[in-house]
Amino acid sequence: MTVVGIGADGWAGLTDAARAELAGAQVLIGGARQLTLLPPSCRGQRVPWPSPLRPAVPGLLAAHAGRRIAVLASGDPMFYGIGRALTEVLGAGVPRILPHPSSVSYACARIGWPLEDTEVVTLVGRPAARLAAALHDGRRVLVLSADAGTPAAVAALLRDQGFGPSRLRVLEQLGGADEACVEGTADHWPHPPGDPLNVIAVDCRRTPGALRLGAVPGLPDEAYDHDGQLTKRHIRAATLGVLAPAPGELLWDIGGGSGSIAIEWMRSHPSCRAITVERDPARAGRIERNAGRLGVPALRVVTGRAPGSLAELPTPDAVFIGGGLTAPGLLDTCWDALPPGGRLVANTVTLESEALLAGAHRSHGGELVRLAVAHAVPVGGFTGWRQAMPVTQWSVRKPSASTDAERSTEPAQDPGDNR
Ligand SMILES: C[S@@+](CC[C@H](N)C(=O)[O-])C[C@H]1O[C@@H](n2cnc3c(N)ncnc32)[C@H](O)[C@@H]1O
Repeated sequence: MTVVGIGADGWAGLTDAARAELAGAQVLIGGARQLTLLPPSCRGQRVPWPSPLRPAVPGLLAAHAGRRIAVLASGDPMFYGIGRALTEVLGAGVPRILPHPSSVSYACARIGWPLEDTEVVTLVGRPAARLAAALHDGRRVLVLSADAGTPAAVAALLRDQGFGPSRLRVLEQLGGADEACVEGTADHWPHPPGDPLNVIAVDCRRTPGALRLGAVPGLPDEAYDHDGQLTKRHIRAATLGVLAPAPGELLWDIGGGSGSIAIEWMRSHPSCRAITVERDPARAGRIERNAGRLGVPALRVVTGRAPGSLAELPTPDAVFIGGGLTAPGLLDTCWDALPPGGRLVANTVTLESEALLAGAHRSHGGELVRLAVAHAVPVGGFTGWRQAMPVTQWSVRKPSASTDAERSTEPAQDPGDNR
């Protein structure tokens, strides 16, 4: 099998090697529009992709097994393209892949943006809210559009996010005879829907005075809609530091409250995933809204009580417990769910939960710390400290079986017993 990238310039834009593959193939698989780009000299059986595409891939490949197959892909097949599904099914390196410049390369060439300085966000099959996490003043973002309606949706999102002055350029049919560009600002987006094949170049400009959201954890508390159940900024930043998300990892955030821990975990890298469990349905709804507004609409919200609602969840890389510590069996269930090397962090402000964390620290080791934050506030004509409730935090990494056995099981002596 060969996967051939093809652009809006069709057959004329293909290399000799790509043309030879297509002319010699017994089966030509591609989108209906792409198949019309091939000349009659490509005599193979033409098979349009069914919709939805991904689940159909294994069956389609099996149906044509043993024949010489060429698959048409838009632009670079390995950049948000069919190359991903095919290599997942067949194995990396099995289909031969002949790339074509992607729409992103064309767009950068047209507007003079270095590709390495450009953030790329795809909205193909994904909600527009995803773009919110990529918005920073002065940043250049290229959006891969889902359809002709995406530019107006992006303009609306930018206005909602306090990025109304941003400049938008919609580049249509890049590399083809009908290539076109329309532009405007998000605040004044005058254009009706145009060509469905488009990418949007966004020069991000924040409205003066709009809330500034940084790239690292510790967003301002005002970034969240909340009812008081919110891990406040300084504790949140410290907690995310200890949770230490790495790309691709999955977090369970138990007792989601307003969702801030899971949201900031997911904002740390587009590949980070999180599931939050919240018993209160009103809060669960609020978490979904906060996640959408802060650019991580893929956050999975489970409305239910832990530990009961944890049973069916996929294995996490890390667990954060921000609520429900005294629920019977919660701590043990979380510990058991963690794979070797997994991390657990639990925060509490109550003595009852603190006692549980002290016991867990005794059994499993790790680090027990107390975090205290005070804010300077007016006191008469002067200024004094207002102390927030101190937070007890236990953090631990689950050892592998061998290091577990090496741990000393000698109970430590309480200095208070030394009478
Ligand atoms: C202090 S808040 C957590 C704040 C959260 N980390 C944030 O930043 O928004 C504790 C939350 O845990 C929830 N909760 C308590 N026990 C629970 C349980 N057993 N299962 C699920 N949620 C629980 C409460 O409804 C509350 O929303």
